[in-house]
Parts: sequence; C-alpha cells; structure tokens
Amino acid sequence: MPTFPVTSSNLKPVGIKLKSVGMYVPDKILTNEDLEKMVDTSDEWITERTGIKRRHIVDDPNVSTSDLAAWAAENALKRVGEDPANIDLVLVGTATPDYMFPATACITQAKIGANNAFAFDLEAGCSSFIYALSVATGYLKSGMIRKALVIGADTLSRVTNWKDRSTCILFGDGAGAFLLEADEENTQLGPIAFDIGSDGNYAELITLPAGGAKLPASEDTVKNDLHYLQMRGREVFRLAVTTIEASLERLLGKAGLKIEDISVFIFHQANLRIIDAAIRRFGIPKEKAYVNIQEYGNTSSASIPIAFYEVLDKGLAKPGDKVLMMAFGAGFTWGGVIWQL
Ligand code: UT7
Repeated sequence: MPTFPVTSSNLKPVGIKLKSVGMYVPDKILTNEDLEKMVDTSDEWITERTGIKRRHIVDDPNVSTSDLAAWAAENALKRVGEDPANIDLVLVGTATPDYMFPATACITQAKIGANNAFAFDLEAGCSSFIYALSVATGYLKSGMIRKALVIGADTLSRVTNWKDRSTCILFGDGAGAFLLEADEENTQLGPIAFDIGSDGNYAELITLPAGGAKLPASEDTVKNDLHYLQMRGREVFRLAVTTIEASLERLLGKAGLKIEDISVFIFHQANLRIIDAAIRRFGIPKEKAYVNIQEYGNTSSASIPIAFYEVLDKGLAKPGDKVLMMAFGAGFTWGGVIWQL
C-alpha cells in the first residue's frame, strides 16, 4: 500500500480494472398475479405501466441487506479466486441499511472476511451504486488503495407498504458487486467520464419519513405507516425522463463520445417507459439498451450492478467495449458513468 499523504505531485496515471462482478437475488419470486391478490391491481396495468412481471423478495426474517451484499461480494471474489484479505475498501451503496449504524458495509466486511479493509456506506437513493463507483475511483486513482469491493444492495421489501398499490408493485430485493483493481499498465481502463448530481429541492418526492433523527420511531409513526417508502410517482417519472436526457448529453460531451461509440447502455431499471423515452430521444438501438426489469423490478442500488453482471454473463460486452451506466433516485440524485472495459 502506498504511504500517506498522497499529494498531486506523486499521483501517477492509473487505470481501473473491473476484475470481477457478482450478484445475488433471493429465490422467492413475487409475480404480478400474486400482487393481484394483495392489492387492487392487475398484471395488465403493471406490465403496461412499468414493464415489470416478477421481483425477487427476501422471505427469511433473518436475512437483510448485509447478507445480500456479502453474497454478491463473495460471488465476485470466488469467480477470480481473490482472497478477501487483499481488499482495501468495502463500500456499500444502499438506501436500506441494516441499521442507522453501524454501517452495513462493516457488517458485510466481517461476513466476507475482508479484515484488512476499511468499510463504509454511501446513501444516494437508487443512484448509490454509481456514486459509490465515483468515490472508489477517487481512492483508486489517488493511490490510497489498490483493491475495492463496490456493492449496491437493497432490501426495499422491508420498507414497502404492501397495501399501497402505487409503490408495492415496483420494487424487488438484490445486490450486485464490482471487484475493482488499480492497473498501472492499462491506464485507459475504467471510468472515462462521470456525470454525478443532485437537487435537494426535490427531496420530498421519494422519502422514508420515520425511523431517522427527524422523526424517530414511535407508536404514532407506526400507526401512520411512516416507516414505509412514500413516492410521488408521476412527478418522479417526469423528472427522471428530463434528468436522464440532460445527464446523458453532458456525459457523452465530457467523454467526447457519441451514442455509436457505446456498446451497451445500462439504465436504472425503474420503469421500462423511462428507458424507452431515453432510447427514443437519443436514437439508441433497442438491442443496445439492456433490460431485465421484467424479472427483478426496481432493486434500487442493486439495479445497475445486477444488469452489468448479466451483460457480461451473456457476452453482450467484452474487453475493449465502452459501457454506459445511468441511475436516478431519491434525493433527487442522478449518476452516470462511461466505463472502458
Ligand atoms: O427508483 C426510484 C425512482 N422511481 C421511479 O422511477 C418511479 C417513477 N414513476 C413511475 O414509474 C410511475 O409514475 C408509476 C409506475 C409509479 C405510476 O404510473 P403512472 O402511469 O404515473 O400512473 P399514475 O400514478 O399517474 O396513476 C394513474 C392511475 C391512477 O388512477 P386514476 O387516478 O387515474 O383513477 C392510479 O390510482 O393508475 C392508478 N394506479 C394503479 N392502478 C392499478 C396506481 N397504481 C396502480 C396499480 N394498479 N398498481
């Protein structure tokens, strides 16, 4: 490990190799037909308005976000035979941490045996994973660390109001992990450009009102369903469409690239109509925009790394390709990155 402090004078150009990816989703599947029995909805409505058919849900009360994160991370480590003791940083992007504190990343660290790492959580709604990638990039590029596990993990089923048809049809549970390594030889590897942003003026669009310092748990908060996620869906939809448009434009501009330079587009899997709007606006060939929302629903921070895992698994992207990832969510936050494989 390099010694501290790292100053701009001793920074050497370094690439970031995506050494491995991992994912985990629970076995239990909740279909649109199952939801028809729980709330006043229909498979037809959910499919037409969102593109979702199924989602994977944690049904074991002893399992939570740190378990999903650990299983995705172990999956990534095992695929390349990496010793967890070599990891310098465990960073978990999540909106549904196990606790207010300690950090889910610390619990995950212990579960996977990454005993030489430092670990912390990052919360930026559904954009948490892209934000986490940008933070890990800073550490790796500065020379402070050599190997990072960046994990997006959420158990939204635990904060979903299963009586609210406007939200309970949308979400699923899961985790995805990137194992990143500094690469001094191939300095072009990794992020070409990020576009990260937030606008707290829209903070009220997606909230989990109770259980934090502002509104601690009480009989009243429980009685009034304030420990569940609340969302003004239509407004989020509109904001997401315009934000993706602007962010994609900026991201391509920063990278000096065009749509045709990108091999695969991975948009946050929140609503198929939002992805379709971006495809139409930018003339992205449909087969280049990876979609798995039908199987998992919106898994929040896990949505992009799970999709990335499947893209690589199916051979849809290979070394030398550029992959664009873009997320948005509570905050309001957004984050995009073009990644050189
Ligand atoms: O990752 C976090 C980011 N979140 C998102 O990206 C979510 C963005 N928003 C959305 O995806 C969409 O706004 C929703 C899927 C949540 C809702 O779709 P929409 O087309 O915006 O529907 P709406 O809220 O405008 O509601 C239209 C109608 C309403 O009935 P009326 O008032 O027209 O009679 C709703 O009550 O659909 C009704 N409705 C439903 N009907 C059947 C709402 N939810 C349901 C449902 N089943 N599950």
